[in-house]
Amino acid sequence: MRLPSSIERVLIDEEQIAERVQELAVRISADYTDEDDLVLVGVLKGAFIFLADLTRRLRVIHHVDFIALSSYNRGSSHTGAVRMIMDTRTNITGRHVMIVEDILDTGYTLNYLQRLFLARQPASLRTCVLLSKPDRRLVEVSVDYLGFEIPNVWVVGYGLDYADRFRTLPYIAALRPEVVR
Ligand code: IMP
Ligand code: MG
Repeated sequence: MRLPSSIERVLIDEEQIAERVQELAVRISADYTDEDDLVLVGVLKGAFIFLADLTRRLRVIHHVDFIALSSYNRGSSHTGAVRMIMDTRTNITGRHVMIVEDILDTGYTLNYLQRLFLARQPASLRTCVLLSKPDRRLVEVSVDYLGFEIPNVWVVGYGLDYADRFRTLPYIAALRPEVVR
């Protein structure tokens, strides 16, 4: 496989991603068999590919909505503050909601989102995250469905970006440290 020069190595290849997404879909489908009003809320932009794959593998009826947040000004330096750019279009009150996020890093983003959504009084709230970097956590966040734990490196591909680049790579790869400022 030819890798872009900024990529150091592939951490999780297409096949491993597909296998894990299928496993998550089976678990989620089993857990929600009795619910008929599940809403998956994907966090843009990073979760769009994960959500698209997950939603097609679920065997329970569900709706899809999106929210757009920004926690980074540019590159990889965290500002602490989370900003909402676009809210969901549907009202989540009284519905079974599952947040679908690409990656859990410091935890600020998911912590913010969980507090925001809980205030809207959903019937239930769970979180599904593809990747987690446990070493980076600054605030505690509960995750119900997790794809992979990864080391503390900047990853791109499968929806994840660096300064809006590398998002459409089909695998999850570590960027060369000298590329990340
Ligand atoms: P947190 O608020 O620090 O947990 O950061 C979560 C957000 O930061 C994610 O939704 C991503 O958008 C972004 N992020 C954190 N680490 C990475 C990474 O390694 N690659 C790409 N985006 C990341
Ligand atoms: Mg994100």
